[in-house]
Amino acid sequence: MAGVKVLAESPVVLESVPSKFKFVNEPIRSSDSDSIPMIDFSLLTSGHPDQRSKFIQDLGKACQEWGFFILVNHGIPENDMNAMVEAAMEFFNMPAEEKQQYEPKNASDPIKCGNFDVTDTSNRTFTLWRDYLKLYVHPEFHCPLKPKTLREALLHYSEKTRKLARALLEAVSETMRLERGYMEETLNLESMFQLFAGNFYPPCPQPDHAIGIPPHTDHGLLTLLIHNGVAGLQIEHNGEWFNVNSPQNSILVNTGDQLEIFSNGRCKSVKHRAVLNNEKTRISIVVANGPSLDAIVGPAPSLVARDGRASYLPMKYEEYIEKQLTKTRVIEKSVLEQL
Ligand code: SIN
Ligand code: FE2
Repeated sequence: MAGVKVLAESPVVLESVPSKFKFVNEPIRSSDSDSIPMIDFSLLTSGHPDQRSKFIQDLGKACQEWGFFILVNHGIPENDMNAMVEAAMEFFNMPAEEKQQYEPKNASDPIKCGNFDVTDTSNRTFTLWRDYLKLYVHPEFHCPLKPKTLREALLHYSEKTRKLARALLEAVSETMRLERGYMEETLNLESMFQLFAGNFYPPCPQPDHAIGIPPHTDHGLLTLLIHNGVAGLQIEHNGEWFNVNSPQNSILVNTGDQLEIFSNGRCKSVKHRAVLNNEKTRISIVVANGPSLDAIVGPAPSLVARDGRASYLPMKYEEYIEKQLTKTRVIEKSVLEQL
């Protein structure tokens, strides 16, 4: 595994994308969107009932209409966010030999890094213009020993994002008028499966002829994303692709498949992708927060009673993930990302 970073930084300047990366990108049909919901987390905890209900209302609307929102005043210190991005950058900057030991042997290895091949609907396999580091961080915490800064940054960041994700999930269940604590208990969020992914997208000589991550949905409940200030995330809304521009210090949040299932389709698991540019390296830090791996996830019975039918079959979360891993990797509703 030499990685895309090594290729992009090689002394021979690349003028075009090597053929194994070639990907025909569905063009963007819409420009930037100012209408992506922005939600102020401090309203939830402000102690003012009016502000709290505004928060619950905005959150419910965002999850149902967009499946995606920008969270501000979320309480995670800027220092912790910066330390996380920097530690990830340090990891990617280590020599290839240092990273080689984490090349995946099995899809379920708790620490892995590399780059990734996907197969499209015409059975063509291509490589993503991205190096990744993926770590299982909860309920067991796994982290490479080097760089030294990584462990501490990740311990802090994963714990804080887990707390934030649980508070948001409790609020999401309130938007659906579910019994307090019901989601926490059924999905066993105390043991939530939390996956960390650091993504490194070097500048690409032909950004429209390759892709960082093709369109997919996330399989968990809520994904929290931060980045190094370089744009690249696009989300699909009403059949159009939107660039997401987020203010510094905010966290991008999207709902995943398990939340769509649990909410009987109220929350949308939104399709998104990472596109490239030819100037700057982009780093994104993704924390995917799911149910416990042994939780059986199906639509909440009270929602099924309200709707008159269940739109999804219940399935153990671990099995859902395995099914994704074993299915042929095809770009459809979800691109099957290696866990
Ligand atoms: C992801 O979808 O996992 C990452 C997207 C991004 O890097 O913006
Ligand atoms: Fe994603």
